Amino acid sequence: MTTSSPVPPVAPERLPELLRAMPKAELHIHIEGSLEPALIFALAQRNRVNLPYADIPSLRRAYAFTHLQSFLDIYYAGASVLITAQDFYDMAWAYLQRAQADHVVHCELFFDPQTHTARGVALRTVIEGLYRACLDAREKLGISAALILCFLRHLSEQDAFATLEQALPYRDRFIGVGLDSSEVGHPPEKFARVFARCRELGLHVVAHAGEEGPPEYIWAALDWLKAERIDHGVQSTKDPALMARLARERIPLTVCPLSNLKLCVFPRLSAHNLRALLEAGLVATVNSDDPAYFGGYINDNFVQSFGALGLDAGHAWQLALNSFEASFIDASAKARYRDALGECFARFG
Ligand code: ADE
Ligand code: ZN
Repeated sequence: MTTSSPVPPVAPERLPELLRAMPKAELHIHIEGSLEPALIFALAQRNRVNLPYADIPSLRRAYAFTHLQSFLDIYYAGASVLITAQDFYDMAWAYLQRAQADHVVHCELFFDPQTHTARGVALRTVIEGLYRACLDAREKLGISAALILCFLRHLSEQDAFATLEQALPYRDRFIGVGLDSSEVGHPPEKFARVFARCRELGLHVVAHAGEEGPPEYIWAALDWLKAERIDHGVQSTKDPALMARLARERIPLTVCPLSNLKLCVFPRLSAHNLRALLEAGLVATVNSDDPAYFGGYINDNFVQSFGALGLDAGHAWQLALNSFEASFIDASAKARYRDALGECFARFG
């Protein structure tokens, strides 16, 4: 018996429409990176926070990044306008509405508590606003949303432990922990003990690795942190043994093409290795990272990278399927989303 492919032939001119319409999960989005300039200025006014930019165009002009750190400096400055639970709610709600428009049916949102607690904002305030938006997403938008608490790797492991301690009263409001911020010079093993504690607590663990840092950081995220997913991971193509391991163990990579372009990880989108990752059998996914800063949400990432790399409907199917496989939802939800994906592709046949 032959099984027919779920992927019908799709005319190239209809591919962007398919990419936009297909149900998908977003697994790599920093919610503070969804803060659009207009909302930054509105919150600055609401909270009487002084910004070092006169207006939206001058803020936007600062979004000319040369590498990760040049972005992070501006990203942390932007987050300084977030003070109340309502601010965190408004930011997350704006993202979730945008995600719904892009046919995101499930998302796992990173947040950076230390960015806020260091300014005197209570962790309770941060989680209260974000969690309320996640609840409303299910009820009002029909999409599931969960939170992943990220530790800032440029800070100490002790600081990460203190943050975890503060978060424990809200343990049921986030599903996992991640590791982000300045990668080079802050290898995963720096956080081995705090991640071990998080695993004992039953939290999922993910980590940024191989964005700018070498393949060794990806090995370390797997071996020291037991990361279930690697965020970015695009440097893995430099190491064939690592590629073989990622494929064999089906460790997903949450790839963010427009982020990699804006942070000069690749010189052009057409030089991105997304196709190579897929063709090596890795569980690669497409995500937006910090959409307000990198010029596009998840569908922009899909449409622009498919155009630049000449990818087709088969790749689209694989990437959407991978997004569900890589997510932390249960098997029955994964099966439901796979069915919805099949129905969407059938409409394009
Ligand atoms: N925090 C927000 N965006 C990030 C990225 N692309 N890499 C590391 N940390 C981040
Ligand atoms: Zn990221």
